Amino acid sequence: MPDDSVTFDRAADYYDETRGFPPGEEKNAAALICRAGNLTSASRVLEVGVGTGRIALPLAPCVRAVFGVDLSRPMMARLQARRSGEAVHPIQAGATQLPFPGSVFDAAVAVHVFHLIPAWRDAVRELARVLRPGGLLLTGYSGTGFRVLREAFIAALPPEHRGSVGVGTEEFAAFLTGEGWQPTGGPFTHRYTYHRSPGEYVDLLRRRVWSRTWRLTDEELEQGIAAVQAAIARHYGDPRRPAHLAAEFRLWAYRPPSPTSSV
Ligand SMILES: C[S@@+](CC[C@H](N)C(=O)[O-])C[C@H]1O[C@@H](n2cnc3c(N)ncnc32)[C@H](O)[C@@H]1O
Repeated sequence: MPDDSVTFDRAADYYDETRGFPPGEEKNAAALICRAGNLTSASRVLEVGVGTGRIALPLAPCVRAVFGVDLSRPMMARLQARRSGEAVHPIQAGATQLPFPGSVFDAAVAVHVFHLIPAWRDAVRELARVLRPGGLLLTGYSGTGFRVLREAFIAALPPEHRGSVGVGTEEFAAFLTGEGWQPTGGPFTHRYTYHRSPGEYVDLLRRRVWSRTWRLTDEELEQGIAAVQAAIARHYGDPRRPAHLAAEFRLWAYRPPSPTSSV
């Protein structure tokens, strides 16, 4: 069956440069994952959508091993190039058909991935299968500031391009709890700051670094950028002046339903 998920082959060359954490924050994000998941040096962890290893590589030192699946070979080639002995094992596979037996992982991590997977419910079912009893699903995102600009961009797009092919954070949380997954505290949040000018944000849109822009025609992209430029004039003034942005890495932890409940 074809997988209509959004793969990141085209993003491999620029992903770390444009989407990475500011220096030092990778370790803080990894520490948050360890805390939220009660992970130890004995833990075996799965990351779905492991990409370039932005999450898995700094996480590896606090666990026994991270197995990472991704549809994109070029993204995982970046991971391999950055790796310096960490116990991270990338495997090309889709989240809806995991190449693992059942009940083998202490935790499954998914950061910025379910919005890319049309069959995300099947992916959830697979995660429930591979988590051992007592294991946890840790799902999260890193928010990047410039919320007002992002909202202006999305509002200017044709309605069919405003959403994602997969699921958003709120619908995902409602689905999990409806299916009997138990939240285990949280959300767990690490806040950090960084500098970026509104003009750089526009450049990144024009370079189509975010997957949201990949389906747009040139005209649709320019329409969104015009709305962003109007919002910059209203909220920031000089587009070249760096803004001090508040960002956050946020995680939710869930225990799977017991085998008697359906997923
Ligand atoms: C936005 S990146 C996130 C990478 C990493 N989790 C991070 O936070 O930096 C999403 C990744 O998920 C992968 N992906 C998309 N759909 C997938 C699927 N169905 N199964 C496995 N990986 C998938 C993409 O190829 C991409 O590498």
